[in-house]
Amino acid sequence: MKENGYREQKYSMTYGEYETECLPEDYRRLREVVMEAAHGAYREYSGFAVGAVVVLENGEIVRGANQENVAYPSGMCAERVALFYAGATYPGVAVKTLAIIARNGEEWVKDPVTPCGACRQVMAEVIKRQGKDFEVVMFGEERVWVARAKDLLPLAFEF
Ligand code: THU
Repeated sequence: MKENGYREQKYSMTYGEYETECLPEDYRRLREVVMEAAHGAYREYSGFAVGAVVVLENGEIVRGANQENVAYPSGMCAERVALFYAGATYPGVAVKTLAIIARNGEEWVKDPVTPCGACRQVMAEVIKRQGKDFEVVMFGEERVWVARAKDLLPLAFEF
């Protein structure tokens, strides 16, 4: 039932999808690096290895991987490991691209994994800090998604 003064607002986002076999060369290279980054995972409890790579505007590449803990919430996702390391090591250098990939046991996941809610909040802070959006590339064995970070957290908290 629609009342006076009520308006429906629509949010839409666009992201790109590639078939992995048709990936452009630069994304192929990025995929190699992020696969290698996933080897740094400490996945003692979930068996799920996530690799993350941050490409900075000065050309530096920062690798991250999930780090688990026996006290589960004390662990950290691959994306935040990489983004926090990048922020701490290269303060003032903007993030151009964040790439991620995941392996469940020994199998690379078929569909791309997307960053969890907490990582999206951290990504929103990166956008705020650097004053510009960045690209997020999510690799799956069969498909690859390319999105803008800002689109991954609609109506993000701000003040
Ligand atoms: N994980 C990430 O590293 N990134 C995500 O975006 C989602 C989940 C990790 C956390 C945990 O070590 C494992 O994957 C299973 O949730």
